[in-house]
Amino acid sequence: MDNFIFHNPTKLIFGKKQLEKLKTEVPKYGKRILLVYGGGSIKRSGLYDQVKRILNECDTEVYELQGVEPNPRLSTVKRGIALCKDNAIDFLLAVGGGSVIDCTKAIAVGAKFDGDPWLFITRKSPVSDALPFGTVLTLAATGSEMNPNSVITNWETHEKYGWSCPYSYPAFSILDPSFTFSVPKNQTIYGMVDMMAHVFEHYFHPTEHTPLQDRLCESILQTVIDAAPKLVRNLDNYDLRETILYCGTMALNGMVSMGFNGDWASHNLEHAVSAVYDIPHGGGLAILFPNWMKYNLDVNVGRFKQMAERVFHIESEGKSDRDVALEGIEALRQFWTSIGAPSRLADYGIDDSKLNLLADRAMARGEFGQFRKLDREDAFAIYQASL
Ligand code: NZQ
Ligand code: ZN
Repeated sequence: MDNFIFHNPTKLIFGKKQLEKLKTEVPKYGKRILLVYGGGSIKRSGLYDQVKRILNECDTEVYELQGVEPNPRLSTVKRGIALCKDNAIDFLLAVGGGSVIDCTKAIAVGAKFDGDPWLFITRKSPVSDALPFGTVLTLAATGSEMNPNSVITNWETHEKYGWSCPYSYPAFSILDPSFTFSVPKNQTIYGMVDMMAHVFEHYFHPTEHTPLQDRLCESILQTVIDAAPKLVRNLDNYDLRETILYCGTMALNGMVSMGFNGDWASHNLEHAVSAVYDIPHGGGLAILFPNWMKYNLDVNVGRFKQMAERVFHIESEGKSDRDVALEGIEALRQFWTSIGAPSRLADYGIDDSKLNLLADRAMARGEFGQFRKLDREDAFAIYQASL
């Protein structure tokens, strides 16, 4: 294990009827609120009306930023920052999925930053402060509700980057599984792929001796593998929504990844694809991750074999380690296909015409990945295998 310091300041408020907790949480931070939300799902579900009622009862003045895109854009971040600066906003409330929360993080930091927010998103300028913000999560996927990460797309230059800072943790996050009932089947599937991908990013690291971390990761994977097929058949099941919501948070809140640096190459490869083609993040990961695994199998066959045996229960007797490992990767591919995830870039109409551009985008910050450093040639090969 590597040395580590663990600190996560986000207050997690989880369960039925927890929205009312806004009444006690919001007044701790301010009275001039910017409510941030997406393209309308919270209006259709009635959550918007509930939030507005509670904020009114808190005697707050509420401004709104609506229309945050899936794969949130820099232009929307800038609109939000202007709203904060023009109206002396003192607290932000994100109500939505990972995109709404990520956008809110960039606005919260940008409101206290002098300059173009792209500078801190591209990690060219340090930041020193942020407005406080809370979240009401409506989609199980990213873990953004309990981590400091944010992923923003500059649609003019087709660049999509993740960034984080010590000030971009939500002050609190309210997670009521019933708010995820209305998430359509495809987004539910993408979310489950994404949370599994976060665990795989942790699992494939170069550090020795991480037995508890391995088991924690494997337990999240097994829990999702058990619940996911049932949930896609029964989207209104509270217990399954609850399980998946909790898995999504635990997969990327730092609890299972202490003491090592995860890989994150597959996320870098996917962000390049969604920067150019604007595809759903989880869909891109379902296509790319098994190909990243096959490409890097020989870096540490034992680790892939361990995943195959412990997560997918592949029998190893009479087989080589490599064959067991390969069977595990194939089992993952089959599992994602069985729940309805895509498996080829062609499923999104993506052909080989922009593979060079994708490889350039993936390399924008230089070689990437911890399990094994990947260069442009590697990125190109993985995209090609994913066509
Ligand atoms: O915009 P609205 O109308 O709200 O609709 C959204 C959107 O169309 C809809 N939705 C959300 N909750 C719903 C709902 N529809 C019905 N009922 C509900 N309860 O779902 C669509 C997708 O929403 P989005 O927020 O984009 O999905 P997700 O949570 O998967 O977030 C994806 C973004 O997060 C980034 C991704 O790259 C992508 O930009 N990531 C953020 C991470 C983080 N902050 O830690 C890590 C991840 O790896 C990821 O990169
Ligand atoms: Zn992800």
